[in-house]
Amino acid sequence: MAAAPSLQELRELVAEFQPNRGHVLPALHKVQEKYGYVSREAIEVIARQLNTTPALIFGSVSFYADIRTHPPAETEIAWCSGPACRLLGGDRIREAMQHTLELPLGGSSEDHRYGIHLGQCNGTCSEAPQVWVNGRVIGKLTVADAILLAREIKEGSRE
Ligand code: FES
Repeated sequence: MAAAPSLQELRELVAEFQPNRGHVLPALHKVQEKYGYVSREAIEVIARQLNTTPALIFGSVSFYADIRTHPPAETEIAWCSGPACRLLGGDRIREAMQHTLELPLGGSSEDHRYGIHLGQCNGTCSEAPQVWVNGRVIGKLTVADAILLAREIKEGSRE
């Protein structure tokens, strides 16, 4: 995970975005791609860049479930909420993983070793239903696979 960015780094990162051009989401994604999450400081920098208020930017952050406001866990599981994955049993995969990890969607373990959050379809639907573990696709999951995967992550026996 990247270190917390300075305000200057954040300003440079979002300098290309302009007010009133629908740039809120692209700016949020750019920050999250680089740092793994969107900090309160980043929200303020984006608001200033887009000539709006932090409250408005925060509203967007709350609306888009794939934008995180805290650093990702060491092992971050993204559960695909896209239609192909859900059609093939993605909800049962999510329930099994959350139950095994004892975490809500969007939650992390107290020691910050693992967490699970909502992800959006990334085009790898042929592997549905799937999760991404630190960005790596693990697909065609059964409920039994999902429980085993979650146990391994929880016990730290999986890289
Ligand atoms: S719906 Fe899950 S990857 Fe496309």
